[in-house]
Amino acid sequence: MLIGKTAVITGAAKGIGKAIALAFAKEGCNIVLNYHSSVSEDTIKEIEGYGVTCLPVQGDVSDFEFAASLMKRVKKELGSVDILVNNAGITRDMLLMRMSEEEFDSVINTNLKGCFNMVRHASNLMLKQRSGAIINMASVVGVMGNAGQVNYAASKAGIIGLTKSVAKELAARGITCNAIAPGFVETDMTDVLTDEQKAKMLEVIPLKRYGRVEDIAEVAVFLAKNTYITGQVIHVDGGMVM
Ligand SMILES: NC(=O)c1ccc[n+]([C@@H]2O[C@H](COP(=O)([O-])OP(=O)(O)OC[C@H]3O[C@@H](n4cnc5c(N)ncnc54)[C@H](O)[C@@H]3O)[C@@H](O)[C@H]2O)c1
Repeated sequence: MLIGKTAVITGAAKGIGKAIALAFAKEGCNIVLNYHSSVSEDTIKEIEGYGVTCLPVQGDVSDFEFAASLMKRVKKELGSVDILVNNAGITRDMLLMRMSEEEFDSVINTNLKGCFNMVRHASNLMLKQRSGAIINMASVVGVMGNAGQVNYAASKAGIIGLTKSVAKELAARGITCNAIAPGFVETDMTDVLTDEQKAKMLEVIPLKRYGRVEDIAEVAVFLAKNTYITGQVIHVDGGMVM
């Protein structure tokens, strides 16, 4: 169903983004792999191993002009943007009383504005095609809040509002827009937590295991295939939020 389609995935050099890129490649999609600083040759080869094209594009999603140039390049080199996965994200955790303006702005700029930038420019192409699937990476924290993550939780709650609004605006043209809200997934992002913090986290996960990157990638592929789900936030969190 996805053979020959083009999937743009942001922040895909590692973690959840890399797993999503591999999952779409396995389905036969050509992959536009956006990365911020570097991507390993092995990752590119692994994607190409599925017999698809992999176009690695370095750039910062928080830069509006970068998003415009990326979409232009994809249109020119691969012909279309069928799937957009806004996965790039950062954390800069700090208690509110000590959070700097820079810590707040950098997280909002990467996570929320980055998502807007990419959707804004991809939608030009998708509207002309009258089809497309947009998948935004939110978080359970955007739904339930989290002490020490005022910036991150605000960015993820913003992504949920953006997702629902985009879904309403673009539905008439056959474009879906959904969000995935992962719980605790084992990646570099969560690796910074202490063993004590990780053990505490496990206590509030009913399924009693941390999420795997593949758990998230599977849902991204499902949302790209389905054409009758839009404006939804799919929780992939082992039951953390019910
Ligand atoms: N790991 C979790 O438990 C968890 C839970 C909920 C949501 N998420 C979300 O999932 C997404 C992926 O997280 P992850 O756990 O794989 O983290 P990660 O740190 O392994 O990967 C994040 C990726 O985003 C890239 N990135 C950061 N800033 C960027 C920028 N300005 N432009 C382009 N790329 C940029 C990084 O280079 C990195 O490759 C993030 O949006 C994160 O908020 C993760």
